[in-house]
Amino acid sequence: MEYFIDSASIEEIKEADSLGVLDGVTTNPSLIAKSGRPFNEVAKEICRWVKGPVSLEVIGTTATEMLREAKELRKYGDNVVVKIPMMSEGLKAVKILAAEGIPTNVTLIFQPVQALLAAKAGATYVSPFIGRIDDLGQDGLAMVADIIQIFGQYSFKTKVLAASIRHPIHVLECAKMGVDVVTLPVKIVHQLTRHPLTDSGLKTFLDDWKKVKA
Ligand code: G3P
Repeated sequence: MEYFIDSASIEEIKEADSLGVLDGVTTNPSLIAKSGRPFNEVAKEICRWVKGPVSLEVIGTTATEMLREAKELRKYGDNVVVKIPMMSEGLKAVKILAAEGIPTNVTLIFQPVQALLAAKAGATYVSPFIGRIDDLGQDGLAMVADIIQIFGQYSFKTKVLAASIRHPIHVLECAKMGVDVVTLPVKIVHQLTRHPLTDSGLKTFLDDWKKVKA
């Protein structure tokens, strides 16, 4: 399973890299806004620094606008994956970009048939949002399991990029299902390192070490 970092903060991206879990980066307009910096500056910095795929999202809502933006976004680097919202106009753009060999990430997937259509249009990645489905009292992981099953049945090359990951159980279940990529806030990466028995075990080791004669 690959680990992408869901962030537009270069500090967080560097932190994830230092932990050995930076296979790529995903951003979205909300994350760019949270960075408090101009898009141009953030995109340039991330694409220069990160070797793996970097998803940058279009803002347009027509295929024509999306295709125009895609060309601009790709100027930031060969590793740019054009992130396109799930909608009919988005699928049109994905189909054309796929024919041109430009990688895409279809985002805001909330049901398996949306992923199926995106794969059929030639998307490189689909991004089902697990946590936001859970927020509605539904089962986000079940949606991902359905997508994995469908893609397996029809041998789609499209990768499943699980997004809106809120806690370590989401990561565990994605790994068990064979999800291709999880995109995580760096906070979750730190959560993955921790267990109360690890903390108490370490405390005991360090306390006992003080009793050892030099
Ligand atoms: O990349 C978008 C996705 O990960 C958003 O997550 O926590 O805002 O639902 P969240």
